[in-house]
Amino acid sequence: MGGAGPNAKAIAMTCKAAIIGDRFMLSKFFAEAIGEACGDRVACDCKDLPWPDEPLVHGYAESGISGLKEYQGTPEMVAEHARGSDVLVTHLAPLDESVFQALPELGLVVVSRGGPVNVDMAAAARHGVSIVNTPGRNTTAVAQFTVGAIIAETRNITKGHDSMRKGEYRGDLYRFDMVGDELQDLKIGVIGYGAIGKAFTGYMLAFGTKILVHDPFADLLPAHLGAGAEKSELKELLGKSDVVVLLCRVTEDTVGMIGTEEFATMKQGATFVNTARGPLVDYVALYAALASGKLKGAVLDTFAIEPTPPNLPLLRLPNVTLAPHIAGASTTTARNSARRAAEEIRRWISGEPPLSPCAQRRAERPPPRDRGAPAAKPVRLAPRQRRIRECGVPIVPAAEIRDRPSSVSRGPCMGRVLGGRLAGERMRMRIRACAADAGSRIAEDLPANFSGTAGSKVDQPYASAST
Ligand SMILES: NC(=O)c1ccc[n+]([C@@H]2O[C@H](COP(=O)([O-])OP(=O)(O)OC[C@H]3O[C@@H](n4cnc5c(N)ncnc54)[C@H](O)[C@@H]3O)[C@@H](O)[C@H]2O)c1
Repeated sequence: MGGAGPNAKAIAMTCKAAIIGDRFMLSKFFAEAIGEACGDRVACDCKDLPWPDEPLVHGYAESGISGLKEYQGTPEMVAEHARGSDVLVTHLAPLDESVFQALPELGLVVVSRGGPVNVDMAAAARHGVSIVNTPGRNTTAVAQFTVGAIIAETRNITKGHDSMRKGEYRGDLYRFDMVGDELQDLKIGVIGYGAIGKAFTGYMLAFGTKILVHDPFADLLPAHLGAGAEKSELKELLGKSDVVVLLCRVTEDTVGMIGTEEFATMKQGATFVNTARGPLVDYVALYAALASGKLKGAVLDTFAIEPTPPNLPLLRLPNVTLAPHIAGASTTTARNSARRAAEEIRRWISGEPPLSPCAQRRAERPPPRDRGAPAAKPVRLAPRQRRIRECGVPIVPAAEIRDRPSSVSRGPCMGRVLGGRLAGERMRMRIRACAADAGSRIAEDLPANFSGTAGSKVDQPYASAST
């Protein structure tokens, strides 16, 4: 049934749906919404993962299953739970080639999130399985959280809270040099004007905030133009904004897009906000900008590594408002997701086109084994990957690393890193961020003592890149 398409379902009229929810997106929400939308035409089999009480695999800093990101559980668990199902609904379960192989009846997967990063889209395409998602389910949640977090940081709510918890009553937070501006006196730079960027801009314009927007692929909404928002080049936005808010997606071009140069370009005393994704930012550079006083403060909901290591220096700075990736978490988000998932299933069994089909970007690619000699394949490198290669760290196709005999892949190699340009930890972060880019992975982690000094010999500092 996998490749039979929606019409076959329309004739069959009933189908079996496996639901893998979690402790935020409860499977019973999906089942209830499916019942409301589809009546008794869909039989649901529910299971819940322990997220968020147990962390998911982030997949950005370390390599995950088939390059999948932000998932919990195993493909075996998914295949076992969904055996014989026509539809699979999930928030975080990992769906790789083996899952599609094990589920020949599967025709539709509903991923109840903005990006189906836990699904191998190429494998889904090869098996003829349609993937739909629920973009925008948490748009207002993230936009409103971002407004709140900016106020918490710029108006010293975080500092006041921290100190009172410790039994201190900080009168100095009323001193003129300590207080912040009201929203109508701020200029906010919005990087990424997608669903969340637009919603956030709308809220801020209602406060009278001046807005600059940088997004190479989006035009301003007429209402936002009319309210005074302006488009801007990135450098100009960084140089003019009191608060810079990052709201774009992680792509080949945006990994590490905000680093030392960009923080240096920002206004003295500006505030930086990342409620989008950790790999967009060089957090070592952010730490330096905050510790030096270049930036007055920061708001961070997302990090390069999640959960954050307890000894992360950023967590100790007094001028940062921190949250454990919860900007999208609201009851509205959960209800929205369930309703949208149910509507997609209703459409599928009725033979109607989906509301949110996911682009099956790599469908045209042959399976990795048929790709021929990996070394002959050109490696597409993002600008920041190119910089890493210039520093002497070899970046090679993931397939090449996979196919190397272990004696070769573990053998020592020369990592010539330009002295002083990249310190060890920062180099590691950059390599991990690049390796996370577009399904690539790190064959082996860098050795803990990798210092990245000029001409140093290191064991296997390979970052890999997808072709
Ligand atoms: N913290 C959370 O809990 C949470 C929840 C949901 C989404 N997010 C994140 O928020 C971000 C925005 O989500 P969204 O739903 O608005 O995504 P979206 O896809 O609707 O919008 C992303 C925008 O980024 C723009 N963009 C692409 N490259 C760019 C570049 N180089 N410079 C500037 N803009 C660029 C795109 O044109 C697009 O308009 C994503 O990173 C998403 O993962 C975070």
